[in-house]
Parts: sequence; structure tokens; C-alpha cells
Amino acid sequence: MAVNMKGTDILSIHDLSREEVEQILDTTHILKMKQKLGEIYHPLKGKTLGMIFQKSSTRTRVSFEVGMFQLGGHALFLSANDLQLNRGETIADTARNLSRYLDGIMIRTFSHQDVVDLAEYSSVPVINGLTDLLHPCQVLSDLFSIKEKKQKLDGLKLTYIGDGNNMAHSLMFGGAKVGMDIVICSPSGFEPDPEITRLSRLDATKTGANINIQNDPFEAVKDADIIYTDVWASMGQEEEQEERLKSFADYQVNRGLIEKAKDDVLVMHCLPAHRGEEITDDVIDGVHSIVFDQAENRLHVQKAIMALTM
Ligand code: CP
Ligand code: NVA
Repeated sequence: MAVNMKGTDILSIHDLSREEVEQILDTTHILKMKQKLGEIYHPLKGKTLGMIFQKSSTRTRVSFEVGMFQLGGHALFLSANDLQLNRGETIADTARNLSRYLDGIMIRTFSHQDVVDLAEYSSVPVINGLTDLLHPCQVLSDLFSIKEKKQKLDGLKLTYIGDGNNMAHSLMFGGAKVGMDIVICSPSGFEPDPEITRLSRLDATKTGANINIQNDPFEAVKDADIIYTDVWASMGQEEEQEERLKSFADYQVNRGLIEKAKDDVLVMHCLPAHRGEEITDDVIDGVHSIVFDQAENRLHVQKAIMALTM
């Protein structure tokens, strides 16, 4: 039976039930088919999504804005630089005010706690468009992309090579929720947050997924169905870029590494990619790569999220 998700905040996959995650993926499938068939579907006619950006974005901004348009609604780009938030208005007051105009708020920012606070004081659903801690919309889209290619999620093994960052954390929560084994392989000192590891392992006890943290890339990719990577220096870590190039030098996803995984391994990256750093050109442009399908599916998954919650 369908779960009523009206008003639900999408802050972290950890907060969602397995049924809610499956409902998002099933709804995505329907909305993607409608769009491919050219069917007009306007469940959000007359509704407005506010999109607060405190960091740059290509995919998230465009896919939310286009998605809202395709659902018959309107999206409003709110650069944090132009909001009173940047001049000291509190998150709580911003949430109370925006709730009087908007039907949903998407936010991309640094501190995860700011998004939690925004959701607490907002009377309309809040969607996390990336924080330093998590990137749930990306991983919900990635689950959809994997299911499209492999027809299942349960029992697969995804190996993430790189920084124990927002992407690693959301992949751990996503895998744990749907029964997919996750291996996070990071250089020593760049492992995921221990509290995220604890919570994802707790979720994994309900689905039988294994959540492993390792340091050896060649060992980590053995029998992998999916190899995933992300930039070595995330937004906000630009000053560490040079130092990180050295720390992550042995953690590049290249041909030598993917040859150690299954023959039909999928290569994934949330993008933007730093070609020649975390991934080589031949791999990101090669036959195993599904990175642009991933990017497209952001549109379809976020439409499902908005249609279900707003
Ligand atoms: N993957 C992703 O979130 O891309 P943007 O930073 O371009 O939004
Ligand atoms: N870890 C990256 C993801 C970008 C989509 C960052 O936070 O910059």
C-alpha cells in the first residue's frame, strides 16, 4: 500500500523507511516513463519550490528547476548572498517566513544542522540538496540508476573509492536501507564519520547489508558490481586540494583498478569529476561508465520526491 509522504522532509536516507525509499523509486519509474512518452502531468500546478544555494551547482539547480516546471509548478532560485540570511537573519525566522510563501524548500549548504533547523521551523517540506555531511537526492537517484541497469539492489556490492565524505555517507545509508553491500575504501585519516558508520550498520541489521570500511583499493573492488568515486576535495575544501592530491594518489579509479572488479562492473560518479585525479578519462568515458545516466536520473527522482512530498 502506498505510504503518504505529504509534508515529509527529505534530509537523510537514514530518516526514511525502506517502503518510502521504494515508493520514491517506483514513482520515479512512472514519472520517467510519462516524460519519455511526452505526457503532460501537472500534479504541482500552482505550487512553488524555493531553492536556497550557499554552494555552486550545475545538476541540482537545473534538475530541480526543470523538474518543478515539468510538474506544472514554479521554482525560485534563492542565492544565499541575496537573502537576509547572510546579514544575520536566523535560520528559524527564514524558515517561518519562507513557509508563508512557498510549498517546499530545497537547500544546499555547508552545515547539516542548518538544514535540520530549517526543517524544524518550516511548515512546508524541506529537501536536502547537499550538505557537508550528506547528499540524499544524489544517492536516491543512484539507487534508481543501479536498479535500472541491474534490475535489483538487494545483494549487490558497491565499492566507493575516495574521501569518506557526504557521498560516502549517503551511499552507506542508501545501501543499508535497501540491502546492498557497501565498501568504503579511503586513505587512512579520510574514513567516514564514525557516527554515520554506526547508524548505517544499525539500519543494515534490518536488511542484511554489510557496511565495510577498508584502506586497500585492490582488495576493496574484488567482486564489486559497482565502483563509485567522487572528488578528493569537496566544496569548501579548496584550500586542502594540493595536500589531498598527495593523500589520495593511490585511490584513482583507472583501468587497472576496474579490471579487478566483476566483468560487468558499473562505474559511477556523482559529478562534477576532476578528470585525471579521482578518475581517468578512459574509465569515465568507457563502456562501464553510467555517469550521465546518473545525472539524468536526478531529474526523474527529484520529480518523484517533489510530487510525493509537496
Ligand atoms: N552531483 C551534483 O550534486 O552536482 P551539482 O553540484 O552540479 O549540483
Ligand atoms: N563531495 C562533493 C559532491 C558534489 C556533488 C562535494 O561536496 O563537493
